[in-house]
Amino acid sequence: MYDDLERVLFDEARILSRLDELANEIVRDYTGKPLTVLAVLHGSLVFMADLLRRVPLPLELACIVASSYQGGTKTTGHVALGGLDVNRLQGRHVLVLDDILDTGLTLNRVAREVSAQPGVLDVRVCVLLAKRKRRECAVKADYVAFEIEDEFVVGYGLDYAERYRNLPCIGVLSKNVIGRSTKDSG
Ligand code: XMP
Repeated sequence: MYDDLERVLFDEARILSRLDELANEIVRDYTGKPLTVLAVLHGSLVFMADLLRRVPLPLELACIVASSYQGGTKTTGHVALGGLDVNRLQGRHVLVLDDILDTGLTLNRVAREVSAQPGVLDVRVCVLLAKRKRRECAVKADYVAFEIEDEFVVGYGLDYAERYRNLPCIGVLSKNVIGRSTKDSG
């Protein structure tokens, strides 16, 4: 898998040390508040697991499935949501956790959906990565681990055609790999 990377942006040690800082901010902001972390699947799974083990608060965890990609590197522009149990959000501060803020379509849709639920106290957004680019949909990311340039990245939960999620680092995917059949890339 490493051979398919053009370059590594953040290795595991760098990611985990940044998560320590992010966790401190979350603890500072949510201590004493009823917090539900809403993980946007599947991209946020690895990030969520490492981040939440650094947050010693009595939080609840909920998940939502969002999909806007169909195997490539471009969003379809349509975000399908599923799996959210809205009853669990009543009377809660909701922190939405996602892997990457790119066009903003996904997080805009998720944040609007959550904000529309009765009894939600407030909604904030936390992302592992935010691309430096003009968003198609406005989203305020309250917590950002790393800002990156507008390149297609994989690893640490992020995939290309469902691969590379288990890479422990985050790297730019080589242009040769994009478009190549995943069956060929042993
Ligand atoms: P949007 O464009 O809606 O993107 O902000 C949100 C979702 O799109 C996926 N995404 C990426 N996945 N490398 C990836 O592996 C990328 O560079 C990338 N950019 C967007 C991701 O699932 C994210 O949650």
